[in-house]
Amino acid sequence: MRKVVYEKYGDAGVLSLREVPEPSISDDQVLVGVKAVAINPLDWKLFEGQLKFLTGWKFPRGVGIEFAGEVLEVGKDVRSFKPGAPVFGMLEPFSGGALAEQLAVPANGLHPRPTTLSWAKAAALPIGGLSAIQIVDDLAQIQPDARVLVNGATGGVGAFVTQIARRRGARVTAAVSARGVALAERWGSAEVVDYGKTPVAGLGERFDVVVDLSGKLPYSAAKPLMAPKSVYVNCNPNPVDMLVGAVQNTYSGRKRRILQMKYRPEQLAQVCRWVEEGMEVVVGRTYAFTQFREAYEEVKAKGTLGKAVFLMDGATDEGADGR
Ligand SMILES: NC(=O)c1ccc[n+]([C@@H]2O[C@H](COP(=O)([O-])OP(=O)(O)OC[C@H]3O[C@@H](n4cnc5c(N)ncnc54)[C@H](OP(=O)(O)O)[C@@H]3O)[C@@H](O)[C@H]2O)c1
Repeated sequence: MRKVVYEKYGDAGVLSLREVPEPSISDDQVLVGVKAVAINPLDWKLFEGQLKFLTGWKFPRGVGIEFAGEVLEVGKDVRSFKPGAPVFGMLEPFSGGALAEQLAVPANGLHPRPTTLSWAKAAALPIGGLSAIQIVDDLAQIQPDARVLVNGATGGVGAFVTQIARRRGARVTAAVSARGVALAERWGSAEVVDYGKTPVAGLGERFDVVVDLSGKLPYSAAKPLMAPKSVYVNCNPNPVDMLVGAVQNTYSGRKRRILQMKYRPEQLAQVCRWVEEGMEVVVGRTYAFTQFREAYEEVKAKGTLGKAVFLMDGATDEGADGR
């Protein structure tokens, strides 16, 4: 089977398509025929070597974390899935390797694909959905009527943060680029700010929660926007942020929280229920599997609405409900 790998750290030029043996499954694993793989900023942070202090120097490495596909075969202890079942899931983020024609995955890391989602949308769900529910419910504990600024409100994570915060009854100010204005309005944001026209740091308002998904609104810039008792969620933490935040949290009413997304199946199941009730999964762009270099360069440079997703040979982006 074919798999995208790299043998050294660098830009998207280090990625190549390789013929590798088909994976074999153990008793508790499932063999998945991959249909779609979503792109995450973490993918390029990993292959560029930005996190090599965590990932080390052992090559080849694969790329891609979240995927959707069809069960091809199940291990002898697996009762929860049968061949032919549509599923989705995520691999351990720092190992990755989902951008391949087949994957061997533990059965307890897989979920049935929500009936309303296409392959591409199912692949775009785990990291954004889990990060968002953990930001809204665990880190910020957003309450009804809370004033929430989502900076980057229509990206891979932000699209879910905005919609889940609205479900919790928050008053959302969505900061987006021009292409995101219509979506953020459709989700019931109280205020939509085009960051290309209005600098977010100068909004002159006070929020109970500030969630920065852009990496461009550090705590120092967010502080004037924060109410005396409020929470700032940092999704791109570095060790200094973590240390300074931990000290500050002991005495200040302005708390600094750090997103370290965890795979929690019960939270992903909750996100799936919301999706089946109509929460939108946004796929702004799709690419063929073999366009991996171009895709990573383009998405890193230009971004997209929601997520960009690779479709494997023969897979289409048609959703069960055409969304
Ligand atoms: N720590 C963790 O556990 C964890 C988990 C998941 C994600 N993350 C990180 O969280 C970040 C967000 O992830 P993502 O998947 O949502 O990325 P993404 O899809 O690239 O979203 C980034 C968003 O920021 C917006 N943006 C860019 N420049 C902006 C600016 N100057 N002001 C306001 N908004 C701006 C973008 O809008 P336009 O594209 O329309 O310009 C886009 O909507 C990434 O850095 C990712 O690595 C961390």
